[in-house]
Amino acid sequence: MHELDAIPTGIGRTTCGSLAATNAGDDVTLQGWVNRRRDLGGLIFIDLRDRYGITQVVFNPGIAATAHEAAGSLRNEYVIAVSGTVQRRPPGTENVGMATGEIELVASELEILNEAKTPPFYINEEVEVDESLRLRYRYLDLRRPRMRRNLLLRHGIVAFIRRFLDERGFVDVETPLLIKSTPEGARDFLVPSSGFPGTFYALPQSPQQLKQLLMVAGLDRYYQIARCFRDEAQRADRQPEFTQLDLEMTFVDESDVMSLIEQLYTELTGVYSDKRILESPFPRLTYAESMSRFGNDRPDLRFGLELQDVSDALKATEFKAFASVLASGGQVKAIVVPGCAGYTRREIDVVTDLARRAGAKGMATIAVNEEGVKSPIAKFLGQSEIAALTTGIGAAPGDLVLIVADEPAIVAKSLSALREEFGARLNLADPNVLAYCWVHQFPLLEWDDDGQRWDATHNPFSGYFAEDEALLETDPGSVRAKQYDLVGNGNELGGGSVRIHSRARQERIFELMGHKREDQADRFGALLDALEYGAPPHGGIAMGIDRFAMVLADEASIRDVIAFPKNQRGVDLMFAAPSGVERAQLDELGLAVTDKAGASGDALEAVLGK
Ligand code: AMO
Repeated sequence: MHELDAIPTGIGRTTCGSLAATNAGDDVTLQGWVNRRRDLGGLIFIDLRDRYGITQVVFNPGIAATAHEAAGSLRNEYVIAVSGTVQRRPPGTENVGMATGEIELVASELEILNEAKTPPFYINEEVEVDESLRLRYRYLDLRRPRMRRNLLLRHGIVAFIRRFLDERGFVDVETPLLIKSTPEGARDFLVPSSGFPGTFYALPQSPQQLKQLLMVAGLDRYYQIARCFRDEAQRADRQPEFTQLDLEMTFVDESDVMSLIEQLYTELTGVYSDKRILESPFPRLTYAESMSRFGNDRPDLRFGLELQDVSDALKATEFKAFASVLASGGQVKAIVVPGCAGYTRREIDVVTDLARRAGAKGMATIAVNEEGVKSPIAKFLGQSEIAALTTGIGAAPGDLVLIVADEPAIVAKSLSALREEFGARLNLADPNVLAYCWVHQFPLLEWDDDGQRWDATHNPFSGYFAEDEALLETDPGSVRAKQYDLVGNGNELGGGSVRIHSRARQERIFELMGHKREDQADRFGALLDALEYGAPPHGGIAMGIDRFAMVLADEASIRDVIAFPKNQRGVDLMFAAPSGVERAQLDELGLAVTDKAGASGDALEAVLGK
């Protein structure tokens, strides 16, 4: 694995991580921050820290009285320069846990470059600190080793990606941040134009249309480490601005893009983590298979607990709750949880509640014991039905079977939530493993009940299988897109597709999505026009860089791999943004704020703790 802390050459000064026993006798000057001070019987010890490491400095009144006296005033996080001589530590006082643990610097001179107030939290210890405090004083938080490593990891990943793609002929092209919105399913961040008051640019949700236009331009292979902006609800794995490795290629099919990314991610994993890749080549699951086995389209393949259909065992059941669901086209599915047959009523209630929160009306259980089964629904199902059900799914003594009967989407959502819950409770996901897989052949369109129209499941530019073309007219929901997502340990790491490159086909999709012709020309005119000027077949993908760094760094929050993130409310606590602006600025832009804005000002102040 790549040594993130390796000391680069060419820094031009002696750093706090570089001295070893071979330097004994050298006269050097170190600069850095006071990590810790200890006064011991006349001697003062300072651990001096910079990005590269920590060196112990000893101030001896018998060697340098002035420096020793000045060292008495040092506090944590003071910035100092110390000159002196490197010496081997006396035998028995070496610190094997420290890269520089064999030596110390015997100080002859000390200069205090800057003092520091007492930091609001410990920088020299890995202790839990309130996140708001960390975000407010992010520059101090980033001094901590864990955060420094995360930034170095990100840097390494991006540098590696650039080298990898440069070698393969990809051209890095910057695309504008002030554009007209590209729909990616979230709300746009708008930027008012002063040249034309009342009109707005949008920040890109992704450079999707621009990269397609670069293919029409004949660039053949494009990439960009691109910043994207989406005004959507925040989650542990989402930020309003985030970074993608965005790429696009000409004359390719799905496999070309998938193989390239697979090779890149295999190499990145080998270089930047100790995790073992579970399966190579990465397994490819169709969307239908992923939904059926795991209940979602980003399965964590590190553990089983797969969803199993028990409808067959219940074909003739007289138990109304199940029979009516099956009669109306629903499903009855189960997961088998090992070792939980002894769950109490109360424990089961907690689990049922989880299923309910995912939309299920209820959840049934069967506890399998040596003596037989225990189940609140035993009285409604016959002995033989229970036996067929439990043996059919391989339930053994000690197992608890969780069953949900409902329409397929709800069965999937609730059992997937339960699967993930028990994966975590039973520690089934090995942290040393990275289970990649591709999910592909997504449905191209899904029905939007509110809008009474079809909507693209990913983006409206995705191509579809030629053999499904006729279904666009008869059954649009079952047209399969040439769309693929890379999943790692249950996270959607990236997604892309082979695109539509014919104007007529693209217009047909927009039509199904309810865009009238005029509206299409207004929103997508440039792309539609370009498709008529020799647009080549093309496809690509975008990989979330932040999310990948989060998985490799084993961080639970995406904020921990971003230098200056927003908090969960989308607020920058360090700069206190968003913020109000001067009346004059609004006037210039022809904007006025309404009463709604007044109320939100108070809410923002509460978040900022004012
Ligand atoms: P998509 O919208 O699937 O595809 O985004 C690609 C990847 O970007 C990451 N991602 C995010 N990361 C952090 N915070 C967010 N709010 C966020 N949203 C998305 C995810 C996701 O898999 N233009 C298409 C790609 C294409 O078809 O080429 C696109 O943007 O890891």
